[in-house]
Amino acid sequence: MTDHLGEKILYLSQSDVAAAGPPMAEIITTLEHAFRERGEGRVEMPSKIGIHTMPDAFLHAMPASIPGQNAAGMKWVGGYPRNRDRGLPYVTGLLILNDPATGLPLALMDCTWITAKRTGAATAVSAKYLARPDSDAAGFLGCGVQARSNLEALLEIFRLRKIYAYDTHPERSSSYASEISELYGIEALPVPDPRAAVVNADIVVTAGPILRQPHATIQKGWLREGGFASLVDFDSYWHPAALHQADKFCTDDVPQLQHYRGVGYFQDIPRVHADLGELVTGSKPGRGSREERTIACNLGIALEDIAIAPLVYQRALQKELGAWLRL
Ligand SMILES: NC(=O)c1ccc[n+]([C@@H]2O[C@H](COP(=O)([O-])OP(=O)(O)OC[C@H]3O[C@@H](n4cnc5c(N)ncnc54)[C@H](O)[C@@H]3O)[C@@H](O)[C@H]2O)c1
Repeated sequence: MTDHLGEKILYLSQSDVAAAGPPMAEIITTLEHAFRERGEGRVEMPSKIGIHTMPDAFLHAMPASIPGQNAAGMKWVGGYPRNRDRGLPYVTGLLILNDPATGLPLALMDCTWITAKRTGAATAVSAKYLARPDSDAAGFLGCGVQARSNLEALLEIFRLRKIYAYDTHPERSSSYASEISELYGIEALPVPDPRAAVVNADIVVTAGPILRQPHATIQKGWLREGGFASLVDFDSYWHPAALHQADKFCTDDVPQLQHYRGVGYFQDIPRVHADLGELVTGSKPGRGSREERTIACNLGIALEDIAIAPLVYQRALQKELGAWLRL
């Protein structure tokens, strides 16, 4: 594995990463372990720093070291809401994987596949602790990359039978619904308004654009009793009164949430019950009754990416994928 240490690095393109990527079940298990490491204080991960070249766009630096997974590195990721209109992906970027023993770079890889999959997996880990185990209907608002990976991950844990899909571009919710019903053999309905994707669902995933000023479409009372929501697009979709209805409001990382609050996001959210490390280690309880409304507002943190990158790297080596670049 370290034959080329200090001489060459492995470059993995988007398609190399996808070809090398582990299955979703392994991503979920690996992430849960990484969150346990975090919850027990064994992960080094400063809050993201970023630059902002346009309103509501970001370029973030996300380093982490997870000694228990022999994983160290950094993701440099961009999120640009208007890219879709130019035929470009919303989220793009690169990840550098380092050798924890020497600090030397091992690999440079496209990060879009990992970002998509690990975000879905983080929803699934949260849902394992916060959603009703018999949840069988889910609503997706924003039918892009995240709606696909979040559903894939949730299906590893829940027997979902009915999916409601809403997108401001109706052709996107229609193609999403037909794609997933063919792929997974479940009933999927495109719906004409956001309310219809929320009120009938046990699990709601909002995955539209992240906005500093929430559009606050989802109102108090829409998320049903016993429901769970994953706020992939932060609080952008939610009216504060709807968020304050949650019995348990959780996140993946409290310091990261505080950091975002300091730069103008999340100005009216409930008190945080627990972060994902605390839920996984059991130091804070997950769902306590069938009636509770629970919310996970996972911000997407570096440990999620850096936990998965070594799996991609190892599998790429085994499959002889990628191109070697001289240092
Ligand atoms: N929390 C995290 O860890 C994390 C990680 C990655 C991405 N994200 C965020 O997830 C969101 C989705 O990312 P993606 O890669 O799936 O983007 P995408 O462009 O593939 O999909 C976004 C979809 O949302 C639709 N949309 C736009 N406004 C909408 C609205 N008001 N209601 C419903 N649909 C709307 C678009 O038409 C598009 O189909 C982005 O905000 C991104 O920043 C969060």
